[in-house]
Amino acid sequence: MSVQITFHGHATFSLDVNGTKLVVDPFFAGNSPVATRSVAEVEADYILLTHGHGDHIADAVPLAQRTGATVIANFEIAGWLGGKGVDKIHAQHIGGGYNHPFGRVKMTIAFHGSGLPDGSYGGNPGGFLLSVDGKNIYIAGDTALYSDMALIGEAGIDVAILPIGDNFTMGPDDALRAIKYLNPKVAIPCHYNTWPPIAQDAHAWAARVEAETSTKVVVMGVEDSYEV
Ligand code: NI
Ligand code: MN
Repeated sequence: MSVQITFHGHATFSLDVNGTKLVVDPFFAGNSPVATRSVAEVEADYILLTHGHGDHIADAVPLAQRTGATVIANFEIAGWLGGKGVDKIHAQHIGGGYNHPFGRVKMTIAFHGSGLPDGSYGGNPGGFLLSVDGKNIYIAGDTALYSDMALIGEAGIDVAILPIGDNFTMGPDDALRAIKYLNPKVAIPCHYNTWPPIAQDAHAWAARVEAETSTKVVVMGVEDSYEV
């Protein structure tokens, strides 16, 4: 029994939950050369989308069509994907949880945008609190810092996946403050070093977090895996 988390670059992760493959925010081809894998090599039973921006959903349609995965997204993005030929969709929305076969997924708030690549309305952006295999994994999505992260932290967070890139999302200072609200056992930084405006030193951030909190930071290289 375990959850294996693999980082594919930017904010794209695979989670293997006892053999069920989840892919979060698939962004591969457009993220070359940072992403080293092709979306054609990735397996998925479920695809989770935090919001509608291209750097989070660029490869969602081809991945869903090839694998037959079920896409979990907000109601507006779910409807948009339906019009793109994706037929296995589970719509949720902010504050709502659902017990999927692999575990519970609750959509959380995020302070950001969610416009879709063709200009369609993508609803509100979100994040996910996964309760899988007895572990709570919080994926913040693209967001600013918000103090209600403390409410999410009340669940007892095993792993928090947080953006640290600044410019479009929380930067290192606010991501450190987020850790203090969430109090996770482990934090994994993402959404940095993809482009020059979000260049960050994740190891320097990790040192600050570990000096000021009891959270352990796992800085993942592209295609690294971490077992929870
Ligand atoms: Ni975004
Ligand atoms: Mn983004």
